[in-house]
Amino acid sequence: MAILDIARMGHPILKGRSHEVTNFDDPELHTFIDDMKETMVHAGGVGLAAPQVYVPLRIVIFFVPEGRDGGAAVPMTVMINPVIKPVSDAMAEDWEGCLSVPYLTGVVPRWTQIKYSYQDVDGSLRERSAEGFHARVVQHETDHLDGVLYPMRMIDIATLSFTDAQADDEEEDLEDGESDDETLEHEAETDVPERDAAEPAL
Ligand code: NI
Repeated sequence: MAILDIARMGHPILKGRSHEVTNFDDPELHTFIDDMKETMVHAGGVGLAAPQVYVPLRIVIFFVPEGRDGGAAVPMTVMINPVIKPVSDAMAEDWEGCLSVPYLTGVVPRWTQIKYSYQDVDGSLRERSAEGFHARVVQHETDHLDGVLYPMRMIDIATLSFTDAQADDEEEDLEDGESDDETLEHEAETDVPERDAAEPAL
């Protein structure tokens, strides 16, 4: 087991299309997946894609913590060669962070309900349905396999924030009194949930 280096936005490895995995008997594949798990846990993330650790293969790991969106936990899942299909056109916006885009967070639209298929570590085909945060994580991680980082999906780049800056801004708003009320009301009109400072990266 080893903790791997994580590539950051701007590195070419994050920009290309990763390759399908075809040989599931390769012992190195299983060692690598173990290293991905250790790396993700060490980094405090809930999702990690192989190109984020400089390996251009279509491999993703993720889990969903219990109580997220009020839903059930999804245990650590290894997805190889994943394919996503939206169930409807419905989309929702929420905050995302990424281990390859450290210190930042932004509001990203994602399909709210998806079906996805993938191969597990043995190469067997699996199918699942997902909604809410589960669906969001799967879309975020699968995007990594096609060279897409979440800022490229953002509609309102003005929401891109340092994770530790936003709380400070809110305090300033309170101190400033009435002058910022209009801005605050405007923000409250959107459906975007309030950002949680402890949001894990994907
Ligand atoms: Ni990410």
